[in-house]
Amino acid sequence: MSSPTGTVLLLGGTGKVGGRIAPLLKAANVPTLVASRSGNSPTGLPGVKFDWFDESTWEPVFASASSPPIGAVFLVAPLMSHPGAIMRKFIDLAVAKGAKRFVLLGASPITEGGPWMGDAQKYLRELGEQGKLSWSVLRPTWFQQNFTENAHGTFLKSESKLFSGTGNGKVPFVNAEDIAAVGFHALTSPQPPNTDYVILGPELLSYPDVAAIISAAVGRTIEYVELSEADLAARFAQWIDPEYAATLAAMDTDIKNGAENRTNDVVRTVTGKEPRSFRDFVEENKAAWI
Ligand SMILES: NC(=O)c1ccc[n+]([C@@H]2O[C@H](COP(=O)([O-])OP(=O)(O)OC[C@H]3O[C@@H](n4cnc5c(N)ncnc54)[C@H](OP(=O)(O)O)[C@@H]3O)[C@@H](O)[C@H]2O)c1
Repeated sequence: MSSPTGTVLLLGGTGKVGGRIAPLLKAANVPTLVASRSGNSPTGLPGVKFDWFDESTWEPVFASASSPPIGAVFLVAPLMSHPGAIMRKFIDLAVAKGAKRFVLLGASPITEGGPWMGDAQKYLRELGEQGKLSWSVLRPTWFQQNFTENAHGTFLKSESKLFSGTGNGKVPFVNAEDIAAVGFHALTSPQPPNTDYVILGPELLSYPDVAAIISAAVGRTIEYVELSEADLAARFAQWIDPEYAATLAAMDTDIKNGAENRTNDVVRTVTGKEPRSFRDFVEENKAAWI
């Protein structure tokens, strides 16, 4: 299979979603370039160095894809509160270099013009309306893999504790494999999507439910610890900048108030497969918490 647009450049190609799109592109024989700060590519596909905060790495990415040139770009925003200007600059460069399709990894609570990648979302649609590119925005809810590959996973294993500020609010936790499958479609479909996809898992679970499910799977008690929004923001600020941490903590309050309490059929409609359940994810990954 060839991409309708040329080589696919995967920014964040080593991350939870990009790292799962890469093998799908490889299996479909789509020319692919995996970008990361190290330039390493765990999938055996060509790798290239790219750092949002080092613009000298940007232009060489396009020079390193010889045949066919980069035609499609998977965008993962830099971890900062206001990435709009830097993302617009990179999108402009990629368009000038001939890229025609852009797929942005967004998030279910973020809409056009909202925080974080909300500005890039708006910019892609505007450029699309001007006929300069085709686009899609993946808007997944919280990932199942946060419990194995993020801070949650560390504390589940080391302290048998799960922290959140979500109370009994429910989340349709989604598997990163399903997000990647939608992303693969958006990058390679003959018809450009020119739309966003709110990508949700099949079961509505609270964080206390998650703690109970993992407890049963590993045979020891995982304690659910409820934090206030302020305490949660202070906790996140140990690892990320305080403004970003405050926005992230406020999203837990939104969950508590029901913001993520919904499911949909986007995974099935776009990929033809049922979304993976959280309980299956826990069974398959319980070694991570033992
Ligand atoms: N986790 C969730 O539940 C969730 C839910 C909805 C949306 N999202 C969104 O998904 C995106 C990924 O989130 P995540 O936490 O799950 O991250 P992740 O999987 O850890 O992926 C981050 C990726 O970004 C790359 N990266 C980090 N700093 C970079 C830099 N300065 N320049 C270039 N690349 C850089 C990393 O590669 P190297 O370290 O190899 O360079 C890695 O491939 C975020 O935009 C987040 O808002 C996440």
